[in-house]
Amino acid sequence: PYATITIDRDFTVADVPRRLFGSFVEHMGRCVYTGIYEPGHPRADERGFRQDVMELVKEMGPTVIRYPGGNFVSGYRWEDGVGPQEDRPVRIDGAWHSIETNAFGLHEFVDWAREAEVEIMEAINLGTRGVEAARSLVEYANHPGGTYWSDLRRKNGAEDPFDIKLWCLGNELDGPWQIGHKTAAEYGRLAQESAKAMKLVDPTIELVAVGSSNRQMPTFGSWEHTVLTHTYEEVDYVSMHAYYQEHDGDAASFLAEGVDMDAFIDGVISTIDAVKAAGKHTKQVNISFDEWNVWYQRGLETEDQPHQVARDWKTHPRLIEDTYSVTDAVVVGTLLHSLLRHGDRVRIANQAQLVNVIAPIRSEEGGPAWRQASFWPFARMAALARGQIMQLSLVSDQVSTKKFGEVDAVDAAATWDEERGKLALFVANRSLEEDGEVSLKLPGFTARSIASAEVLCVPEGGDRHLANVEDNQDAVTLVPLQEVGIQDGRVQLKLPALSWAVVEID
Ligand code: AHR
Repeated sequence: PYATITIDRDFTVADVPRRLFGSFVEHMGRCVYTGIYEPGHPRADERGFRQDVMELVKEMGPTVIRYPGGNFVSGYRWEDGVGPQEDRPVRIDGAWHSIETNAFGLHEFVDWAREAEVEIMEAINLGTRGVEAARSLVEYANHPGGTYWSDLRRKNGAEDPFDIKLWCLGNELDGPWQIGHKTAAEYGRLAQESAKAMKLVDPTIELVAVGSSNRQMPTFGSWEHTVLTHTYEEVDYVSMHAYYQEHDGDAASFLAEGVDMDAFIDGVISTIDAVKAAGKHTKQVNISFDEWNVWYQRGLETEDQPHQVARDWKTHPRLIEDTYSVTDAVVVGTLLHSLLRHGDRVRIANQAQLVNVIAPIRSEEGGPAWRQASFWPFARMAALARGQIMQLSLVSDQVSTKKFGEVDAVDAAATWDEERGKLALFVANRSLEEDGEVSLKLPGFTARSIASAEVLCVPEGGDRHLANVEDNQDAVTLVPLQEVGIQDGRVQLKLPALSWAVVEID
């Protein structure tokens, strides 16, 4: 396929929201236990934080991490995870049919997040709990001292407040699977009152209301409308969640799922703005896309839905440890493009999850940690998408898909970092058979040289299913993009079939 992309220096979308490159750590499967935390592992420090995993997290560069769930949070008592570890109760986690030892809790996560240099996005339980637990957690975390909950934090070893700014008002409460599932009106009122009480403790916090669990939910649209009608003045964001997978070998449709993400985001923006107009609000609520990824949901009879399947209760069972291929990594790249193109309204996004559980980083208990193929688009975009998001005018040859009809074969997003004088182009070729030729016109810019150019594609002798596994950890990685140059002020590049690339232009 052939594509022309025009990026005019005068046409920008918004500043790059750094929180767009967020991730998610849930007490689920092996994300926390044997993921980020494994006392006794040869690479664990004295706190039990795996330093091999920490190094990969820092290399990947997430900016903000949502914690501690997910479905888990809707049955969680945050008090269980603070205080001396030997006194913490062992509980049943109904959401994931697991045993929660509570060895890891809020203080451990704060320490871990500080070392990883990430902001914390803390989710509260609005499934089994409500206003009282919500406001006491804010007091525990953010109040300086001299009160019951803040002094308990100090007694537990943290003199200074954690100063957590970003809070999720529950998780997926529109879903019948959620512990404490609610109607939109029930949730809207509870979220409104929780938000109010939390802001009475700390008025500087930012709040995320729960949106739909996915675009297929029967209540999608009406849920957001009702929830925001109750909460518009109290919250700053409404959440979105989406997971994509290849069905029945239909790779073409799978590679085009960014089209679905674009439409999903546009739909939620419309609903937010309808509530804003009807309520005569002046403030702007935006989007926190706080769960997104590729996830092969295999149905009830597998470990994907352990709470539905009779089996032993285990601590940190293996759950949804998807292995990501070249194809999956290209899709992840295009989903990041969609988020970035909508960066004026999607101000936070969290890839779900960080380690082992549908994650870009894998680790084995007592063993190694490695990067999945999907690590690479995230790592490069988190590092290089800086400054301003640029508007793109993209004219591309099409590929045919069963699900979306004709879609652009070439998909892209771009940023301009005035400070560093660098334009970054992120670009995918969705064609499974043909190389892509891209011509980049840059009115208002002077393209002097190519600062860097890398591509993720099927390596020689491999196929599109190739993935990084424990005994072949670097099978899929970024390699130099060979055919790229500047001719008559235009950047010309050739993309292999099924590839994702990043080019930085000086
Ligand atoms: O990320 C895995 C799960 O997916 C989360 O716990 C839940 O919120 C979503 O359904």
